[in-house]
Amino acid sequence: MSNGCNLACIVGARPNFMKMAPLLRVLSARDAVHTTLIHTGQHYDKNLSDIFFEQLDMRRPDISLEIGSGKHGEQTAKILQRMEEVLEAGPAQGSRYDRLVVVGDVNSTMAAALAAVKLGIPVAHVEAGLRSFDRTMPEEINRIVTDGISDMLLVSEPSGMDNLRREGHGDEKLHLVGNIMIDTLLHLLPQAKAIGTPEQLGLEVGEYAVVTLHRPANVDNADTLSELVDVLIDVSHRLPLVFPIHPRTEQRLERFGLLARLQQAPGVRVLPPQGYIEFLSLTSRARVMVTDSGGLQEESTVLGVPCLTMRENTERPVTVTSGTSTLVGNDAGLLRNLLNDVLDGSYKKGRSPELWDGHAAERIADILLQ
Ligand code: UD1
Repeated sequence: MSNGCNLACIVGARPNFMKMAPLLRVLSARDAVHTTLIHTGQHYDKNLSDIFFEQLDMRRPDISLEIGSGKHGEQTAKILQRMEEVLEAGPAQGSRYDRLVVVGDVNSTMAAALAAVKLGIPVAHVEAGLRSFDRTMPEEINRIVTDGISDMLLVSEPSGMDNLRREGHGDEKLHLVGNIMIDTLLHLLPQAKAIGTPEQLGLEVGEYAVVTLHRPANVDNADTLSELVDVLIDVSHRLPLVFPIHPRTEQRLERFGLLARLQQAPGVRVLPPQGYIEFLSLTSRARVMVTDSGGLQEESTVLGVPCLTMRENTERPVTVTSGTSTLVGNDAGLLRNLLNDVLDGSYKKGRSPELWDGHAAERIADILLQ
């Protein structure tokens, strides 16, 4: 096993799984490469973690750290400490990891990269270079730190290349490879369309909105969240809403006394977090998405579904300039106007960015194994 290339591949939270799955699949077909899949356990609920391994056909982790939830310092510190032990132990007696591969911008991404680089293990960052220029977002700090210590920066959209060059990264480290999350989307879209989740929920295809919200900036403050709930209920008078609720958001809605208001609104369907295939079944047939998720901005762009993004900024500007996303912040009036455009067919159409073609994992594998 110690012959060839030993890669430590890290996952931790829901948005990591769909980015790592295609890469593991492609690497498993290449010669002389051995991968060790390490799950930090940042997300541990069946609905946020296990179900993705089943649906994405990803093998079970070789190593599970079971870190769990916690404050940022606590969660990051635990991952750092456990990752150091795991990386020092190596993939097998007497052998060493040649490289660590991290994806995205969650706490697990940054902490694992930091543990590796301090042990002299080089780091490849998939989805490098994205910047919202909003340092109040924990993910922005994770992106800046991870890119700063990685020597292989695998970039999903042109803005990422510009950002990294501006920050002084040399061209030898940068690779525009496209969007690996779209590999998973295109791979599973036929299955998602076939299972008919909207029909099962009694929704009319193309006549509902999918809502997701979980960013701290939107859900951690009672006044902000209350305003957003009002906006959503307003939207639901025009178009039925399906709202799979992230555990963080559910906790906050309950704490601020807002959950019942949403659940009792006749046009709102509150659901638990959905599996990847069920969720894609819902989004691919939606009239519009209303979300604060970066990943959904990308997926809606490829699906050609309008995306009203409840954020003031985005680290994925191509989804706005070429894609179907518009930033609405929490401006209820703007949201209402754009919804009118969606309903009367005048909303912009958008197109898929270059290299969001379902083959990013192959390009990444080629670079990793060069
Ligand atoms: C994390 C990522 C975010 C990503 C999101 C997707 C960071 C800083 N944030 O945010 O970038 O978009 O995942 O889901 O890494 N919880 C559960 N079950 C779980 C996991 C979490 O109930 O399996 C609850 C916990 O009470 C926890 C809260 O959700 O306190 C938040 O979880 P956490 O992992 O801290 O961040 P997310 O908000 O999920």
